[in-house]
Amino acid sequence: MPVKGRIIWVAGPAVRAEGMMGARMYETVYVGEERLIGEIIKLTGDIAFIQVYENTSGLKPGEPVYGTGQPLSVTLGPGLIGSIYDGVQRPLTEIAKSWGPFIRRGAHVPPLPPDKKWHFKPLVKKGDRVGPGDIIGVVQETPLIECKIMVPPDSRGGEVVEIVDEGDYTIEETVAVLRKNGDEEPLKMYHRWPVRRPRPFRSRLNPETPLITGQRVLDTLFPMAKGGTGCLPGAFGTGKTVLLHQLARWSDARVIFHIGCGERGNEESEVLTKFPELKDPYSGRPLMERTVLIANTSNMPVAAREASVYTGITMAEFYRDMGYDVLLVADSTSRWAEAVREISGRLEELPAEEGYPSYLSSRLAEFYERAGRVNTLGNPERVGSVTIVGAVSPPGGDFTEPVTTHTLRFVRVFWGLDPNLAYSRHYPAINWIQSYSAYVDEVARWWEAEVDKEWSQLRHELYQILRREDELLEIVRLLGPEALPDDEKLILDVARMIREGFLQQSAYDEVDTFCSPRKQIRMLRLYVKFYRMARSALERGVPLKEIRAMKVISEIIRSKSTIPNDQLERFNELEKRVEEEFGQIAVKTSA
Ligand SMILES: Nc1ncnc2c1ncn2[C@@H]1O[C@H](COP(=O)(O)OP(=O)(O)OP(=O)(O)O)[C@@H](O)[C@H]1O
Ligand SMILES: [Mg+2]
Repeated sequence: MPVKGRIIWVAGPAVRAEGMMGARMYETVYVGEERLIGEIIKLTGDIAFIQVYENTSGLKPGEPVYGTGQPLSVTLGPGLIGSIYDGVQRPLTEIAKSWGPFIRRGAHVPPLPPDKKWHFKPLVKKGDRVGPGDIIGVVQETPLIECKIMVPPDSRGGEVVEIVDEGDYTIEETVAVLRKNGDEEPLKMYHRWPVRRPRPFRSRLNPETPLITGQRVLDTLFPMAKGGTGCLPGAFGTGKTVLLHQLARWSDARVIFHIGCGERGNEESEVLTKFPELKDPYSGRPLMERTVLIANTSNMPVAAREASVYTGITMAEFYRDMGYDVLLVADSTSRWAEAVREISGRLEELPAEEGYPSYLSSRLAEFYERAGRVNTLGNPERVGSVTIVGAVSPPGGDFTEPVTTHTLRFVRVFWGLDPNLAYSRHYPAINWIQSYSAYVDEVARWWEAEVDKEWSQLRHELYQILRREDELLEIVRLLGPEALPDDEKLILDVARMIREGFLQQSAYDEVDTFCSPRKQIRMLRLYVKFYRMARSALERGVPLKEIRAMKVISEIIRSKSTIPNDQLERFNELEKRVEEEFGQIAVKTSA
């Protein structure tokens, strides 16, 4: 029997209630006459400390608190894709329809449409034995995503004693009944799962396929793997949101989750209006047919930001369990960490670094640990992945602050945004000296098998030019550019070409916004070829100024936007022109 207590204290999103003996940690409770959604985050004796996911203004001591006996959970089934949710999985679009643009407090709207009929195709028959994770049927959830109806992970499994015929059913109708040891378990098309508990899988696999993002500096220099983890720290205005949107839009994951975590209100409403208009580049269908948005604007209560991270990752794992590659981006995890800090302050816990609680680090670890490429539970056997990329907004752009430093301990890709690059309008403003990816060796096998067997070699040469430039610029700062011999000046020249023509990539350029893997390798080859030919021309006595005057240089730099992904043969002509021009200056020199 769930408990019923009484509020004794209210402070912002935090409420203390007495008479809560028998309640459990992380139990969902309804707070006050309006039944606001809350979660117990501390219990001492019969006193429960509750974080409330809705605006608590007007809430008074003396009002009731109702236990539910259930941990904070999400509803998982067809109808998730295309939805826009708040942090506790309330559909914002549905709520907006019934109550106007603001969520009315205490609104309890079902997360999935209860009356919608889905066309269910059974894949098991009477007498079959099934266990957790087994697929018993499928539903075409959107034209892009087939929702697998799975035996819930916490089911005991058993013999199928009833299974409906193919047909149209709502999620509330029973589609199958399992029997084990005389007990019957009815299955519907959805189940509930507690958000703080990672969904189980059979085994963890090494991430080895790249997540193609179409952004050259990421895919070629600092690649992400499907099932990997990455963070994107950057000062105010350095391009975090634009880059995460690029990932959500262009990545070759099947299902995308975008968590907007208490960023500025207008930024979030931009997501909510912009995303529904975008098209999926792989199919031409609306992007929302493979996307779920979770929105928490800064005018929503802080506690809801915490919940949104768990809500999002749990739904992401659900699609992983179907065998899909899922990408989850969170913008920004700093706002979530600040919410944790605020609640901890209300709890009067002893603060650690910069007021954050000592468990900040374990919270971040738990979140990123839920990424991964796995062998899922159940039959038929399948592999799925969840990739997590979190933006971090360090105050003042200081990467030594706690959220950035702790995050860096748990992620394997670091895409560091550099304010100086952003000021000089070098976008994406990824600092190529600071950033790293631990997946380079893993994904190299894919690139070499699928795209070009010289990928590693070419990538290495390009990267070396950039690193050499960084060292040489130090010398130039001390002694001036004339101190360098011509072969080193050439490195500076080519590095500048690479920065402008390869690393810079405008999200707003119609052609260049997405660069396919094949185009990336053609460009990579072009720059490396130019450098190799220029160096040997120098060695043969061609003056540097002749190389600098080559007309083909500006064509190379412009090729990112002049050559579209479907006309890559034009790189052959460009390469030919490079050879011709080098031929001409060689003749001129020897004459
Ligand atoms: N890849 C890109 N291509 C073109 N322009 C970009 C790119 N990235 C960022 N910009 C420019 O930088 C501006 C700021 O970017 P953005 O809003 O993503 O920064 P942010 O780091 O999310 O900022 P905040 O800290 O305020 O959330 C954009 O409005 C855009 O003009
Ligand atoms: Mg932003």
